[in-house]
Amino acid sequence: MKILLLGSGGREHALAWKIAQSAKVKKLYIAPGNAGTSQVGENVPLSVCDFDAIAKFVLDNGISMVVVGPEDPLVKGIYDYFKGNELLKNIAVIAPSRDAAQLEGSKSFAKDFMQRHNIPTAAYRAFDATQIEEAYKFLEGLQAPYVLKADGLCAGKGVLIVPTLEEAKEQLKEMFSGMFGNSSATVVIEEFLDGIECSVFVLTDGKDYVILPEAKDYKRIGEGNTGLNTGGMGSISPVPFADAQWMKKVENRIIRPTVEGLSSDGLLYKGFIFFGLINVAGEPMVIEYNARMGDPETESVMLRLKSDIVELFEKVDAGTLAGTKVEFDERTAVCVMLVSGGYPEAYEKGFEISGLEHADESILFHAGTALKSGKVVTAGGRVLAVCSYGNNRAEALARSFSVAEKIDFEKKYFRGDIGFDL
Ligand code: AMP
Ligand code: GLY
Repeated sequence: MKILLLGSGGREHALAWKIAQSAKVKKLYIAPGNAGTSQVGENVPLSVCDFDAIAKFVLDNGISMVVVGPEDPLVKGIYDYFKGNELLKNIAVIAPSRDAAQLEGSKSFAKDFMQRHNIPTAAYRAFDATQIEEAYKFLEGLQAPYVLKADGLCAGKGVLIVPTLEEAKEQLKEMFSGMFGNSSATVVIEEFLDGIECSVFVLTDGKDYVILPEAKDYKRIGEGNTGLNTGGMGSISPVPFADAQWMKKVENRIIRPTVEGLSSDGLLYKGFIFFGLINVAGEPMVIEYNARMGDPETESVMLRLKSDIVELFEKVDAGTLAGTKVEFDERTAVCVMLVSGGYPEAYEKGFEISGLEHADESILFHAGTALKSGKVVTAGGRVLAVCSYGNNRAEALARSFSVAEKIDFEKKYFRGDIGFDL
């Protein structure tokens, strides 16, 4: 079969690496891809939201499955675009429908969904600018710190955690005045939850699901989880506190009610669900949903997924996931991100990357790289995911850190403390 994967980050290189291992794949295209994905498939210069161009490419090249990496095309309705067209409707699209992707596209939609289906999450209310006085009153009834979330997509930047009531009111006003453009026209204010986070992933065909290896990501730029939020500085799988007992709670209270809720609400879903969870005194609660895989969690999760991912995708499309067993690699997998100095604020790109040949103890997934005159250069904030297996966390991390030292580019930075809190 011929497959088209949409996206261009470390997540997509990891997905492409895994897809390419399937005996079912005759040809893998990645649009637009990066220097890394070109090692496992063929890059095509298409933008992930140009549905007309994607459709033409799919038809011209006999592609029978489209796998979607990032959230933008999901929220813009790539699934509905294909299913609503006579020529395209039989092509498998591993994605939720546009309505279902609102689980990620609108925080207030997600919160209402959780409330309706009794899924544990922080107490909350959603407000728009006309309700600012009411919103202040709601804030006054909460305890510090205060959590303010822009309703719409903000590339992971739309959440503020504010220490004082005064600042919370000020920030709320700014959000209504366009701090995140139209995405913060509605703001969700919620109770602060204290605990350690864990990302859980499932693949669903809309009725049944399989649970993939869980992972923990490290979002802050600085060691000890300090400084600005980033797209993610590293990840680890498995997560020690996500033992069988905890995962049973996650499945019974969160995963099953979510999949059943999607189905009973008539929300078509054939893809990944990402549960951003927090462990509050042993009890899992939902911080957020995403309608896709996480980055950099995917880089660790794909290392631990033994089953053929394309077979799973086929079952997702056919609606035959029921009873499917997923095999995990028992080893630990970790990912350490090499980033451009300055990231997540301003940074330079175009620096040549050296030492890639010293990575044989690790698997490298490219995030922000490009090929320039035959050389691999930096082309983004997050540059390379250095991923390793180990018999335990310490062993896997030692491998990644050793390779992270050997690869070099100007102003390279990485967090040397991934896993410190586990
Ligand atoms: P989100 O985009 O909703 O995942 O939020 C981004 C980050 O903010 C999360 O990964 C958490 O670290 C933090 N966060 C969000 N909501 C809460 C909450 N209710 N309590 C504590 N931390 C939160
Ligand atoms: N690692 C978090 C995310 O992908 O949103």
